[in-house]
Amino acid sequence: MSKVNAILQGTLNWVDERFPLTSNWKAHLSEYYAPKNFNFWYFFGSLAMLVLVIQIVTGIFLTMHFKPDASLNASGVPVAFASVEYIMRDVPWGWLIRYMHSTGASAFFIVVYMHMFRGMLYGSYRKPRELIWIFGMVIFLCLMAEAFFGYLLPWGQMSFWGAQVIVNLFSAIPLIGPDLSLWLRGDYVVGDATLNRFFAFHVIAVPLVLLGLVAAHILALHEVGSNNPDGVEIKKKKDANGIPLDGIPFHPYYSVKDIVGVVVFLMVFSVIVFFMPEFGGYFLEYNNFFPADPLVTPPHIAPVWYFTPYYSILRAVTYPLFGIDAKFWGVVAMGASTLIIALLPWLDRSPVKSIRYRGPLYKGFLAAFIVSFFILGYLGMLGPTPMRTLVAQICSVIYFAFFLLMPIYSSLDKCQPEPDRVTSK
Ligand code: HEM
Repeated sequence: MSKVNAILQGTLNWVDERFPLTSNWKAHLSEYYAPKNFNFWYFFGSLAMLVLVIQIVTGIFLTMHFKPDASLNASGVPVAFASVEYIMRDVPWGWLIRYMHSTGASAFFIVVYMHMFRGMLYGSYRKPRELIWIFGMVIFLCLMAEAFFGYLLPWGQMSFWGAQVIVNLFSAIPLIGPDLSLWLRGDYVVGDATLNRFFAFHVIAVPLVLLGLVAAHILALHEVGSNNPDGVEIKKKKDANGIPLDGIPFHPYYSVKDIVGVVVFLMVFSVIVFFMPEFGGYFLEYNNFFPADPLVTPPHIAPVWYFTPYYSILRAVTYPLFGIDAKFWGVVAMGASTLIIALLPWLDRSPVKSIRYRGPLYKGFLAAFIVSFFILGYLGMLGPTPMRTLVAQICSVIYFAFFLLMPIYSSLDKCQPEPDRVTSK
């Protein structure tokens, strides 16, 4: 052994006697056996981690120059809005940092939606992975809160009026509603107090929780092992050394595969950041280039694209019930539409996990659900008309039917038998 190697080995031994470095490296990377048949859909977990890192790093640099202050500067522009303009025009590379962060927000949702859809395709939420799914759902809720808080910060027209609309929704709750929304805003209108508390939540409280949840998500995954496109449990067939016959070490095989995903992702991400950061008004809305003005309500207020399916469900509820007005039931339906996803592990009664071996019923319901989700998303971006509301109502029924009828159709479905070992499709 060369002298350098001896020094490195000695240092590693010194660390290992004080910190479980080698044992963790083995448990989570070089001796974590993942199924050998991972496909395209398995890129999105590592990509979600990459986007999380991009958001935190660019966020730190934005925080160095951003000012959460709603008062007007000498030119009559809100300080928060002006500080974002300052980042864009005067801070060296500020425009890049800001566009990476704003594009990163949409990229996060694209990646996480693909990641969740993979779970639905291959039944990755089924026993023994229920907790991975639950941690994932809490991550998803935190991500929505994080995006909502962040969107107020540039203090543009959409920031201001979007927050106004969403916080006002809480006032629809009987008895406590009006006090609750006042408490959330810290003022009678969205104002400086709101901006300051949203800033605190956006830059520290929610990211801290997110990081902890992602750690729990991965620990839970590594406890039970990864699912795969065949939905077969690879731990059931092991060799004499206790290594799954269909498993390969995560490092180097999947660390290298994930790098391919990262490179392709960064290419697409860069094209958007450098050539189309507004992405046709979907990633950065045109109205948000005007400073917040409490006296001018924009004619059409819509949330960013990743919230529009749920916003459509909210607006689809137009009937009062039990003497409580429709707005309240809309809020309930919107909340239920996100929370119900967490129940999938208990709603699905199919004998198989993967879509590859499921019957036509599940495939039909899943297809109808996805189509409805897209239509709801599209309608949520438009102003309501009676026809659009009717379509949104039909799609909302399909959305909920996918979940609520699942115990029935998933057990009635004509499935094919799962193979014993993973296939190489
Ligand atoms: C910040 C967000 C998230 C990060 C960083 C993240 C990260 C990861 C990673 C690295 C994996 C292992 C690699 C892979 O299977 O792709 C994974 C697996 C998994 N994640 Fe996530 N995840 C996130 C959000 C979510 C959400 C929102 C859900 C669902 C509600 C979810 C559900 C799952 C499931 C079920 C698995 C196991 C998949 C399998 O073994 O087939 N994750 N996650």
